[in-house]
Amino acid sequence: MKKTAETKVPLLSEIAERWSPRAYDTTYEVSHEDLLAVLEAGRWAPSANNLQPWRFSVVTRGEALHTQIVAEAMAGFNAAWVPNASKIIFISVPSLTQDGNPYDIAKFDAGLAAQNMMIQAQALGLASHPISGYNHDVVSKLLGLEEGRNSIAAIVLGKSTDPSSLPGPALEREIAPRTRLSLEEIVLHGLS
Ligand SMILES: Cc1cc2nc3c(=O)[nH]c(=O)nc-3n(C[C@H](O)[C@H](O)[C@H](O)COP(=O)(O)O)c2cc1C
Repeated sequence: MKKTAETKVPLLSEIAERWSPRAYDTTYEVSHEDLLAVLEAGRWAPSANNLQPWRFSVVTRGEALHTQIVAEAMAGFNAAWVPNASKIIFISVPSLTQDGNPYDIAKFDAGLAAQNMMIQAQALGLASHPISGYNHDVVSKLLGLEEGRNSIAAIVLGKSTDPSSLPGPALEREIAPRTRLSLEEIVLHGLS
């Protein structure tokens, strides 16, 4: 299914065509090469002072850790569709800098890495969907993250499929048009 962004001027197709599906092919497995490409895209994101605060933890459908995370940490709505995708890439960042101060910019850096990964996935013909609707403490523990590092979001990765495979409310969301605020609403200065 296509949900191309409506824009005043043409964009890179990977940006215009990317969207966040919830219907995933339960038999499709992301190849090791494609996974490497997505992770490399994340690795090469810019970050404040090039500190690269992100760490990625990849769990694969069928492995015990995947089953445990879905059962113990996934929020209700997400539990209905996330397990169908081939991979979940959990992103984690430290909450404090080396000096012990709040490391707020780490979340911004992680967002840049996440978007790099999703654009690369789109270019590879894969679908991706960012999520934060899970118990971050439980996931951080199950992933064995070091003290002070927390999983803040994840990228669901796989091959999208026919939306009719989804139950009621999820199906409605799947076929709903994508919407955005207008440029006039979000550009506070400098548009004209
Ligand atoms: C940080 C973040 C967290 C999100 N968490 C969830 C989630 O838990 N479950 C979900 O179904 N979608 C989640 N989304 C997806 C958004 O709802 C989606 O990106 C937004 O509606 C725009 O749709 P589009 O990506 O198709 O353009 C999340 C997106 C972001 C960026």
